[in-house]
Amino acid sequence: MSAHELSDDEYKRFCSLIYRSAGIRIADNKRVLIANRVRRRLRATGIDTFAAYYTFITTPAGAAEMPLFLDAITTNETYFYRDPQHYAWLVDEFLPGLAERSRHHKHPRNVRVWSAACSTGEEPYSIGLKVLAARALLPGWKTHILGTDLSGAALAAARAGVYDDRAVHLVPEAEKKRYFDEDAAARPRRWTARDELRELVTWKPHNLMLPLREDPFDCIFIKNVLIYFDAESKKAVVRNVLALMAKNGYLVVGPTEGIYTMLDSLTKVKPWLYQKQS
Ligand SMILES: C[S@@+](CC[C@H](N)C(=O)[O-])C[C@H]1O[C@@H](n2cnc3c(N)ncnc32)[C@H](O)[C@@H]1O
Repeated sequence: MSAHELSDDEYKRFCSLIYRSAGIRIADNKRVLIANRVRRRLRATGIDTFAAYYTFITTPAGAAEMPLFLDAITTNETYFYRDPQHYAWLVDEFLPGLAERSRHHKHPRNVRVWSAACSTGEEPYSIGLKVLAARALLPGWKTHILGTDLSGAALAAARAGVYDDRAVHLVPEAEKKRYFDEDAAARPRRWTARDELRELVTWKPHNLMLPLREDPFDCIFIKNVLIYFDAESKKAVVRNVLALMAKNGYLVVGPTEGIYTMLDSLTKVKPWLYQKQS
């Protein structure tokens, strides 16, 4: 076997490391995929062999490389308004509902939403666009949208807020014009989120396997991230996420999460929407 092939043993060690670090269970048939992704890090670090790279990232000297390794392993696929029904609910039901409760002094004049595993930012910015669309209902309200992800590279892209046509293909033209600067000369064409939208979102690196120190959220999005987690990891994530749900708060769950059986303490409102009762 050449130094650039991943042996069975090495593959198992990397899989175990990924599981311990991120809760992600890599299937037995992903050896080529993992080898290709780790190989990118070999090139970037100038390390010759998988074995030497493994040793490096598991010692204190390689601590800074660990997040870059996990970046290379994880999949960041996302786009604005993925699952449009979630955003229709946000603007037609969730935000008007909060405004109504606030009128009856049952909710403060602020809205807190967490996009857990936000990747390159399309999800929290989509939430921001809906808050802007409902602004007339929420005069003088404070908005706090938090985007967190394990991947530092994804968060850096989120902060930059620059997107291609594919990322914004579901954003209506009027919203694109109003909340993005278009760089039509760039190839591919680019859309940069304007300050009005960017100011609504803050970003934080965070591993969902760990508790997050934050005040409770009125709504939490957890979508397209837990597909590769095993039951134990999912349970840990669900525990951490539920700990941050406000009374009457909502959980928006993606189609691949596979956590429905772990949400008994919540009321199911729609197949993808759960609420914590007060
Ligand atoms: C496919 S993206 C989903 C983005 C967005 N939620 C959506 O549905 O479009 C999955 C994201 O989960 C992140 N991720 C994977 N494991 C994680 C973990 N243990 N903690 C936090 N984020 C994680 C990845 O870095 C990636 O950006």
